Amino acid sequence: MGPQTQLAESNADMELNPDSATTTEGLAEKVIAGGGESPKQILVVDDERPIRLLLQKILEANGYLCRTAENASDARNLLDEFTSDLVLCDINMPGESGLDFIRFVLKAYPDTAAIMVSAIGDPHLAESMLELGVYDYIIKPMDRNGILISVANAFRRRELEMANRSYRRNLEQMVDERTDSLQRSMSKLENAMNGIVRAIAHTVETRDPYTAGHQRRVADLAAAIAQEVGFDRDQIEAVRVAAIIHDLGKISVPAEILSKPSRLTANEFNLIKEHPQVGYDIVKDIEFPWDVSTMVYQHHEKLDGSGYPLGAAGDEILPESRVLTVADVVEAMASHRPYRPGLGVDVALGEINKNKGKFYDPELARACISLFKSGRFSFD
Ligand SMILES: [Fe+2]
Repeated sequence: MGPQTQLAESNADMELNPDSATTTEGLAEKVIAGGGESPKQILVVDDERPIRLLLQKILEANGYLCRTAENASDARNLLDEFTSDLVLCDINMPGESGLDFIRFVLKAYPDTAAIMVSAIGDPHLAESMLELGVYDYIIKPMDRNGILISVANAFRRRELEMANRSYRRNLEQMVDERTDSLQRSMSKLENAMNGIVRAIAHTVETRDPYTAGHQRRVADLAAAIAQEVGFDRDQIEAVRVAAIIHDLGKISVPAEILSKPSRLTANEFNLIKEHPQVGYDIVKDIEFPWDVSTMVYQHHEKLDGSGYPLGAAGDEILPESRVLTVADVVEAMASHRPYRPGLGVDVALGEINKNKGKFYDPELARACISLFKSGRFSFD
């Protein structure tokens, strides 16, 4: 017995069964419940004309708007003009299969529900269709109640899924808005922090005009070296911030010592040597995102332990602090000092080259020399 015959018999059975029709009409009222909602639109795709007409008749009798197509190609054209809330589709049709057509529908029209119809009850096929997103799988011969219940369930599930999608979209939008707002706040905080850092740098340099600009130039060189050796963005920013305030401890050194135009006495030099400790004490309670206070503390330490104030050596010195040391020495030697004229970049790089591995991290020393020699860095 072919599916057409089966359905025809089923149809005949329904026509002959007044109880069935009554029940169906009662069900229809529930199916299209929703008050003043516009009728749901259903596209029926089946190559067998009697089945198309029967489905259309059942659905229209129950308040749905229905259009039919005899193959996938016609159905695709119809979808352009007939907004379908549900597609009821046969699996086996000449031309494009029902399964391929439904795959297209679910992708191109995500708000459209789908129910498949087949004469063959194949559990594996049914499972793969449900995985695809098809709501139900009706086996011919169909009965009126079964069709209407399946359609009603499909619409209920579709509404839930659409509400869920809308909720997720709203949630995502809310998260995006909160993230934007947080980023704007972070950006303001970052600007405030940079402003405070610049103010600190300016305060120190106001008392010590000979080193005015020194910290900024050290920051530029230190950031360039950090980038050259592959520090990540966060580390480079840490180096830049620490460099721009690295000498703030000089605020405790009398201005006449800072600007003394002759050699310093041992006592005067001992006072100067306290500035990393003083700087550390000033910034240690500020919660920077990085260990800026230790970088300030260590900027005069040397690899072999001959630096000050602690005489830290090797790995005791942070990589970021080692960058500061190299950049600080090069800038200081190249520039004018109260007690001597600037020695120039070549002399400064000579010092770095000569004592790399002893005082200075050799990789950082090489990176610094390479930046100048290749013309990729120069002081303003
Ligand atoms: Fe210093």
